[in-house]
Amino acid sequence: MFIWGISILISYLLGSISFSYLFTRWLKGVDIRNYGSGNAGATNTLRVLGTGPAAIVFVLDALKGVASVGIGNWMSHGDHIMMVVCGIAAVVGHNWPVFLRFRGGKGIATTVGVAASCFFGATLISGILAILFIAVTRYVSLGSLVLTIFIPIVMWIMNYSGLMIGLMLIITAMAILRHKQNISNLIHGTERKIHFKGEDA
Ligand code: G3P
Repeated sequence: MFIWGISILISYLLGSISFSYLFTRWLKGVDIRNYGSGNAGATNTLRVLGTGPAAIVFVLDALKGVASVGIGNWMSHGDHIMMVVCGIAAVVGHNWPVFLRFRGGKGIATTVGVAASCFFGATLISGILAILFIAVTRYVSLGSLVLTIFIPIVMWIMNYSGLMIGLMLIITAMAILRHKQNISNLIHGTERKIHFKGEDA
């Protein structure tokens, strides 16, 4: 039980490190949560700092997920439940970081790291689908929702256990909860589209 508690706590604290917040503070001296969508994540970093920093933030946020699954693996000697639970703790940390008074991001990059580490095939298929949605619509939020909703569906098709699908559904539920405003914006046609350097906004 102690090992579980300590692994979950470390994963949560790791997830609580907000790279989008740190980068925008270091490079621009501002709090990312006061700009763009107000979200402390890679997509909003793209708006505030541009493509390069956003890509780095995405990779670092995803690595938090990979590392937390690694912590679970290491501490439990390969218990799959512990690995996913530690991943969930990292996503919780990213969304509600103790270091930022519990106002963080939406957990998608960290989810990618967790899901790719635990359910690679399902994440790859859902990831390709999500990228297609983003490429066509330019709504990252829509792609994020497609990704997190499709992973458990593909897991089900791939015959994963009910327990693993259930744990993944916790991550999906968190993503939907954190995208409440985006969903409302999408419905009302006010959601922000993404633009890359050199493109007309
Ligand atoms: O991963 C977050 C993304 O889905 C939406 O971000 O900043 O457009 O709310 P944002």
